[in-house]
Amino acid sequence: MYRRELLGPGSVDKVSYMSSIVDDAEIFRYVIIALIAHVNELERGGIISGDVAGRIRDALRDVWRGGYDPGKLVGYEDVHEYIEAELIRRLGSIGGWIGIGRSRNDHVATAIRLRLRRALLDLMLITLRLREVALNKAVEVYDKVIIGSTHRQPAQVTTLGHYMLYLDDLSRDFLSELMHVYGLVNKSPLGSGPLAGTMVGIDRFREAVELGFDGVVDNTIYATGSRYFVISAASAIVNYLVEVGRFINNLEMWLMPQLNYVSADPSHLATSSIMPHKRNPATLEVFRARIGEAVGHLVAMYSILRPVESGYQLDLQELTRHMWSIVKIALEGLLIFMDFINGIKVNEDGVKESLGKYVVTAAEYAEAVAMRERRPFRDVYNEVARELRSGVKVGLDVNESLMKPVHGSSNPRQVIDDARARLNEVSELMTKVNLMVSKLDEVENKLLTT
Ligand code: ARG
Repeated sequence: MYRRELLGPGSVDKVSYMSSIVDDAEIFRYVIIALIAHVNELERGGIISGDVAGRIRDALRDVWRGGYDPGKLVGYEDVHEYIEAELIRRLGSIGGWIGIGRSRNDHVATAIRLRLRRALLDLMLITLRLREVALNKAVEVYDKVIIGSTHRQPAQVTTLGHYMLYLDDLSRDFLSELMHVYGLVNKSPLGSGPLAGTMVGIDRFREAVELGFDGVVDNTIYATGSRYFVISAASAIVNYLVEVGRFINNLEMWLMPQLNYVSADPSHLATSSIMPHKRNPATLEVFRARIGEAVGHLVAMYSILRPVESGYQLDLQELTRHMWSIVKIALEGLLIFMDFINGIKVNEDGVKESLGKYVVTAAEYAEAVAMRERRPFRDVYNEVARELRSGVKVGLDVNESLMKPVHGSSNPRQVIDDARARLNEVSELMTKVNLMVSKLDEVENKLLTT
């Protein structure tokens, strides 16, 4: 439709090649919402009559209810062209009023932000649920010993509860990143036109309020041509996934029969077609691989964006799908991971066996002796090292070793108290995020239905 008068009809193969009609399934709902806000604003500004606005709104809601099947939309450049064509088909030329004061550039940026803020809230909720699971597990296993490793060598005794608080610290940091990124994303680019604005007196602030945004993206070039908000979100998510992936490696190591510190719920395991003894941690492996894929999507985004100057180019269209892929990998994987954590158990026999084999409390012993006998630490350390070298197993009692006085340590009392306090923090945050979700539901339903 857009190209006809200037360029002629085009060819289906080339239009399909440059089209985002398939990827646009992700933003269909939000393109409709942005268009309804746009029509409302055109009406408020007296650009179109109440009657025309009403008819366009009804038609838009009709198109929304009709659903989106990109398989049937071959030949359209994107969802924006399809919807406008649909309006004109239904209403005749008055449907064409939708084009005034609007560019696909400001509208797609708006739709991506509307969709992405939802994704960020979904991620906040799943991360909060993961925290809840990790913290409840911490309460359950606050004193269940695990041998922590550094350099993949036995290092110090701690507990699975202590490791659960590690997971909680990481997830807490991710949540604060998500909140920050949400602030970047939840601003309105609507009314920015293709780059420099529009001749129509659109009140961008009024539109922003109607869409539940916290304000506007001020500069219209930035609003339409930048994707800083997208790569900010993507990188925050991928950073977290990479760290979660590292924790997957701890779990896999602890599951090795050679260590056998923990056991997993069998639903997460798969076996071998030929080796009847195998119990492979399959779900974790798939999540770890998908995390690698997410890193690839992020790198793809950087590679796509880097050579493109600040005005809109179709490269930006090609960026967007990587964002949704990252979100999907995170949401699906974290759900599986959470369930894994929920089902994990400490295998005390396995841990005991390792404790018998490896000296892991020599540091604690040396510190305790140095303090008790008021001798320089290095002297005691060397003494202990000599004894170990001659084959004497020197170490402090395991439970005594756990009782470290420093903040954030393996001390079981601290672990359980901390976990309980954090469970309260999590439930408060959960309430806050659920409130944000219902506010958006309200805003969107109002536009889509009334
Ligand atoms: N389909 C595009 C996208 O997803 C928006 C269209 C902008 N097209 C254009 N020729 N300016 O980003």
